[in-house]
Amino acid sequence: MSAALEIRPLTATLGAEVVGVDLADVDGSTLDAIRQAWLDHKVLVLRDQHITREEHIAFGRRFGDLEIHPFATGTLGDSGHDEIVQITSKPERLVAANTWHSDVTWREEPSMGSILRGVVIPPAGGDTCFADTAAAYERLPDDWKDRVDDKVAVHDFVKTFGRGVPPEKMEEMRATYPPARHPVIRTHPDTGARGIYTNRQFTSHVEGVDDEESEVIINRLERAILDPSVQCRVRWQVDTFVMWDNRAVQHFATDDFWPETRTVERVTVVGDRPY
Ligand code: SIN
Repeated sequence: MSAALEIRPLTATLGAEVVGVDLADVDGSTLDAIRQAWLDHKVLVLRDQHITREEHIAFGRRFGDLEIHPFATGTLGDSGHDEIVQITSKPERLVAANTWHSDVTWREEPSMGSILRGVVIPPAGGDTCFADTAAAYERLPDDWKDRVDDKVAVHDFVKTFGRGVPPEKMEEMRATYPPARHPVIRTHPDTGARGIYTNRQFTSHVEGVDDEESEVIINRLERAILDPSVQCRVRWQVDTFVMWDNRAVQHFATDDFWPETRTVERVTVVGDRPY
């Protein structure tokens, strides 16, 4: 499908609704236009995409290899869709990724991007918020930029997924997924923009400083992400797809919809080693 895309920005630097795309039928030039819009706006929202799970996976694959999440495989049972992570929240158990983060930063080569579909959407609430990590960095005072520019932080799955790993499997998982070291401020490989790359969900500490200074740095950078002026917010509908660039944004799923059910399904594109 090669109709011209209509791009409706949500803010000047972050987020856009994309109109005129059918994800079941994306030709090469439309894919190029989506790729460029993704780099320009970092978060894309595509409504009314009535595609199958296979088509969701196939669309994700056009951007690179898809991740099989070691701590969230089989969320769709034996359906054969291991590339899809389903996140569901029910009245008996509220589930929401309600901490600012980018996906799988505990990997040596964390995710380039995520493509999430709304499957069951509550009548009110359950929005996902996004923060532009380069805009957040840009707004830091110069002395803070100097303080964090050359720092490296350690990211560890145990902080979030450790609770779900049986003690007898922990050693094996630790050996397979050792703590990863990433720059505190990473450079986007395509745009060259520099953005904050620590998060409370997976960053265990900043190297080369004492615990207190590490906490001060992680807190200050989180405060920069929390500024509503660097954020946008997406209201979901069933079959809305949201694609975000994990190298350029952090996200936060609101948990303001209980006792309603909310189900979303994500494919995650593998990325490069941050620098
Ligand atoms: C996620 O963190 O990938 C899920 C976001 C959401 O549930 O909106």
